[in-house]
Amino acid sequence: MKKTLLTFAVVLAIASASNAQTKIPPNIEKLLQKNTCLACHKVDVKLIGPAYKDVAKKKYKPEQIVELIKKPVPSNWPGYIPMAALPNVPADEALTIAKWITTLK
Ligand code: HEC
Repeated sequence: MKKTLLTFAVVLAIASASNAQTKIPPNIEKLLQKNTCLACHKVDVKLIGPAYKDVAKKKYKPEQIVELIKKPVPSNWPGYIPMAALPNVPADEALTIAKWITTLK
């Protein structure tokens, strides 16, 4: 019993350590902050919007993500409030963010 608990504690410790490693690269974080994305999105947990890791699971091409930032399709995410369209995110910044999202696992 004690051993099981210990194993469990070790597994938990490893799991939380690897979770903490999902760091946003500084250049991306700057763009996400500037464009207010972080108010609604986190990398690995659902906030107001879906976790970027869950967005990555949809296997979009970066260009599709850029389009979805400009013109969200709320029916892609049942159970979420619709994302406000963000047409003013500069194209190059949107593409940089989009490429990064597609690399998330
Ligand atoms: C006010 C909150 C809010 C902000 C700010 C916001 N989002 Fe969202 N986002 C959402 C919600 C809610 C959804 C899910 C519903 C939807 O797609 O309409 C979503 C969905 C998405 C999706 C998935 C689109 C799809 O159809 O699969 C992407 C990609 C995304 N957001 C990226 C961004 C980026 C990049 C920014 C910053 C430029 C941003 N979001 C800012 C709330 C937000």
